[in-house]
Amino acid sequence: MEGMKNTSKHLFVSVIFLLVMLYIIPLGTFAILDPLDFLALQTIRKSLDDMPGSNFFSSWDFTSDPCNFAGVFCEADKVIALNLGDTRAGSPGLSGRIDPAIGKFSALAELSIVPGRIMGSLPQNLTQLKNLRFLAISKNFISGEIPAALAELRSLQTLDLSYNQLSGWIPPSIGEIPSLSNVILGHNHLTGSVSSFTSQTLTRLDLKHNNLTGAISPSSLPPSLQYLSLSDNRLSGPVDRLLGRLNQLNYLDLSLNRFTGSIPAILFTFPITNLQLQRNFFAGPVRPLDQVTITAVDLSYNRFSGEVSPLLSTVQNLYLNNNRFTGQVPGSFVDRLLSAGIQILYLQHNYLTGIKINPTSEIPLSSSLCLQYNCMVPPVLTTCPLKAGDQKTRPTTQCAEWRG
Ligand SMILES: *[C@@H]1O[C@H](CO)[C@@H](O)[C@H](O)[C@H]1NC(C)=O
Ligand SMILES: *[C@@H]1O[C@H](CO)[C@@H](O)[C@H](O)[C@H]1NC(C)=O
Repeated sequence: MEGMKNTSKHLFVSVIFLLVMLYIIPLGTFAILDPLDFLALQTIRKSLDDMPGSNFFSSWDFTSDPCNFAGVFCEADKVIALNLGDTRAGSPGLSGRIDPAIGKFSALAELSIVPGRIMGSLPQNLTQLKNLRFLAISKNFISGEIPAALAELRSLQTLDLSYNQLSGWIPPSIGEIPSLSNVILGHNHLTGSVSSFTSQTLTRLDLKHNNLTGAISPSSLPPSLQYLSLSDNRLSGPVDRLLGRLNQLNYLDLSLNRFTGSIPAILFTFPITNLQLQRNFFAGPVRPLDQVTITAVDLSYNRFSGEVSPLLSTVQNLYLNNNRFTGQVPGSFVDRLLSAGIQILYLQHNYLTGIKINPTSEIPLSSSLCLQYNCMVPPVLTTCPLKAGDQKTRPTTQCAEWRG
């Protein structure tokens, strides 16, 4: 009896052992990381540190399998993605520099670093990463120039270096990367002009808040663009022909530049939700072709002239202030205001001559109408921003002069 029991116990243990071995052995043979990638990971680890309050690197124990480290993703024996830093909101991020050893990851397709205090310039060795598709190092302190050789990364789709201290030109060769779809370089100190982008899959171009200058050639951006922000630079020249081609735009911000010329009427038919053209030198009439369905339109601080089109009365937040608009405010605006369809209607600082509004009708509290400093006595109960000043009407001499 005892013997029987022992044999079956033995058998049981052997089967378990066999199952365990079957399970472990394949894993064990699979998890040997390429020694070059292993060494590169060690160098990267030495060049970066957690900021106080971040403990991203706590899982990086090189006596265990690096493919299990936080932010390290492998395929076969190669690292294919590095997402460095704790991605939880509010994490203080990492400090240090990007070591040139980054170029050793021969299969790396994705490199991202969370917002933090990474200093120094982008190592030239990034250009060795021939498979790189995604490069995002936003909100750090990266300085120096964008290496022109980045253009050698022919698979690059996303380039996000926004909110750093980059200076110099945007290398024109970057615009020739065939598969680019997102270029986000806003909030740096970049100078020079906006070069051509030839990728027919470019959907997002964000260069806001730099020091870019010069004109933009009409054919320099592909019609695939959906998001375009060039806000807060020193760009100049006309953009009517350029914009006329970008019929997939859903976000357009050209504010705070020195653009001139007219804006094409067709722009108002694009699927845009937010149109920001304020603070430029745009001129000419604003004549949409059809009722405008854009939620927010800001054309303030330009030199637009002519009458205010009733087709704009369907816009929820409309800023036409500080231009040279003339004539009566169309009745459709009053109707939309009274029914709370319009939230903001800023018409101050123009040459408008009247608005037909029943003095007893009440503008809903949720709506703002400002008519200050025009060629009319504004109705009571308008709500103006402080900046509109407290002068109710424009001097009559100016009004007479304008009408010729
Ligand atoms: C970085 O690139 C340079 C020149 O391309 C090369 O000589 C150097 O070995 C690379 N460094 C590393 C750590 O790969
Ligand atoms: C642009 O240049 C001016 C003058 O050179 C400088 O004062 C300003 O800080 C720069 N802006 C940016 C965003 O780099």
